Amino acid sequence: MSEPSSPKVRSASSSSSSASPSNSTPPSPSTPPSSSASGKATPQPPRDVRRRQELIGATIECIAEHGLSGTTVARVAQCAGLSTGIVNFYFRGKDALLLQTLEYVDSQYMLRQREAVLAHGGSPVACLEAMIDAAFDPELCHPHRVAVWAAFWGEARARDDYMRVCAAREAELEEQRVEAFAAIATEGGYTHLETEALGRAFHHMLSSLPESLLGDRGSFDLERARGTCRGFLRSIFPAEFSGAAPGLAPAPSSSRPQDLETEECATLPTWIYHDPEFFELEKESIFRRNWLMVGHASHVPGPGDYLTVDLVGERVFVIRGRDGVLRAFDNVCRHRASRVVRGQSGHCSGQIVCPYHGWRYGFDGKLKGVPEEESFSRLEKSEVRLPELDLEEWMGFLFVRFAGDGESVAELMAEKFDEASHYRFSEMQPLGPARTLDCDFNWKLFVENDSEGYHIPMAHPGLRRLFGTSYEENFEQGEGTQASSQLRDQESSVWAERAYQRLLPEVSHLPEHLRRAWIYYGLFPSAVVQACPDVADCYQVLPTGPDSCQLLTFRVALPDARREMRVARYLSERIIRNVIREDLSLCRFTNEGVKSERYTGGRLSDLESGVGIFRDEIRDRIPVAGVQKRPAPGRVATLNAQLNAQSNAQSDAQ
Ligand code: FES
Ligand SMILES: [Fe+2]
Repeated sequence: MSEPSSPKVRSASSSSSSASPSNSTPPSPSTPPSSSASGKATPQPPRDVRRRQELIGATIECIAEHGLSGTTVARVAQCAGLSTGIVNFYFRGKDALLLQTLEYVDSQYMLRQREAVLAHGGSPVACLEAMIDAAFDPELCHPHRVAVWAAFWGEARARDDYMRVCAAREAELEEQRVEAFAAIATEGGYTHLETEALGRAFHHMLSSLPESLLGDRGSFDLERARGTCRGFLRSIFPAEFSGAAPGLAPAPSSSRPQDLETEECATLPTWIYHDPEFFELEKESIFRRNWLMVGHASHVPGPGDYLTVDLVGERVFVIRGRDGVLRAFDNVCRHRASRVVRGQSGHCSGQIVCPYHGWRYGFDGKLKGVPEEESFSRLEKSEVRLPELDLEEWMGFLFVRFAGDGESVAELMAEKFDEASHYRFSEMQPLGPARTLDCDFNWKLFVENDSEGYHIPMAHPGLRRLFGTSYEENFEQGEGTQASSQLRDQESSVWAERAYQRLLPEVSHLPEHLRRAWIYYGLFPSAVVQACPDVADCYQVLPTGPDSCQLLTFRVALPDARREMRVARYLSERIIRNVIREDLSLCRFTNEGVKSERYTGGRLSDLESGVGIFRDEIRDRIPVAGVQKRPAPGRVATLNAQLNAQSNAQSDAQ
């Protein structure tokens, strides 16, 4: 990955001839040549240099007042208070005087512009800022200087010597500005921009804005001109030209272009559903820093019982110790990386024994025994243990977290606690083994599908027949989500659904309003407990690639031997299986759709607020998810880090 290139600096000789008095210091139109701003005497240049300064200063005055054609040797001499003979002595006539005046004005301007590039060569953002300041420097942007430059440009078509100076200056500045635009776009991931055209436009803005001085005498505001140029840059590179430290704080939201703005009613940008670089960010910032549901305490009831799960490229197992405590560890042997426990679940009697070479670990993860231990040099058993993950049991459901110090599951689900407590989830027992289902779409599409009821009437006829329009959701960002549907009294025309409506027995420990309700509890990023009166149907979506994921599912329920309850559980599983099949099909459709270059995102209705909340959860953790167009290859993580830094800087400032 290369550093962004900074604008090149051409040699000073590229636009000024050897006759240029660029190392002399003729007077500015507003500053006497031989005194400093403080009024103290400064060392005098040699007499001939001083004379040239005076004559060029006088020539500038004359051109500004009379134009090129009206500037004569006599007028210059009169303005300088010298004789025409002296003018001709130093410049050998009007042509040489004018050309050297042009070269002087050009050299002064270019000196400032080159200083801007040299001083900020490592930062194209700072470089463009400095170019603006230089272009509207009160001395260089004095009406007389601007008038002189405009006059020479006007004549340049007819004069090769003028054209040589003017064109060289324009070419050098334009190249520097275009290169700065390209560097910022590359660094910032603005892949959609026509940087050459925009850089040129910026160059011509800096070149032509000062000419407003000529027709706007007295009211031309340098500060406003600088603001205009910065506004132009900000509208193109909002994150870089915010008005705060270059490259840090973003522009105010109102000035951000559409491509950086994921509006309240807009979907996430399509590129993040199939981008390998974004997937890496998701693994790190979402799946390794948030709670992931891996099972239920009833899956590991006794000491030595374990369950395993593969989570975003990592292998994890949960085991119950002799002390009854559940712990989660990496399922990777510290010797040569074998799984230490096999299968989806099992039991270890006494110790965890790696199936490869037989290293033995305690249920606390500590290395206890090594076959042929004396054959290892420098192996200190007491220093070796399986890395442990955070584990939290919430109402019997087991959640693990690789890293992070965010809120606990209990805190995140606090608002749902009272209602969820009625279900007595922690007393539930497994209904069959946990299952995994490999899916060929991006995980977010499944969660989004799960986060709104807008699609239910169209996509899930079974749910429509069972629940009508009773779906209500209670989604808030930063906490667990909840949605509910009430079984209709009107019987479904489909026998399995009708049978469920008829046979679902009374569940006396549930309050009245939950006895015929299906309640959905969700926890970001992708854990769901679907609480039905008869069963808790649970699933966790886990990405396995940029556009593939795995659905980990299990069902738990309270012991209930009633025949109608067994039938209801069979029927609800059948109904839910149909719903999932319908959703999987929709997720495949959308997975195809978000890859289309002809689809650039859609609008969300008020009935899809859960999708909007999910979008915001993603953007909060991975701000590059707010960038509408995919950054350049290799730049996704860099841009995300930059946006994170901006966000942190903003937070610190508030
Ligand atoms: S890899 Fe586990 S004992 Fe060798
Ligand atoms: Fe659905």
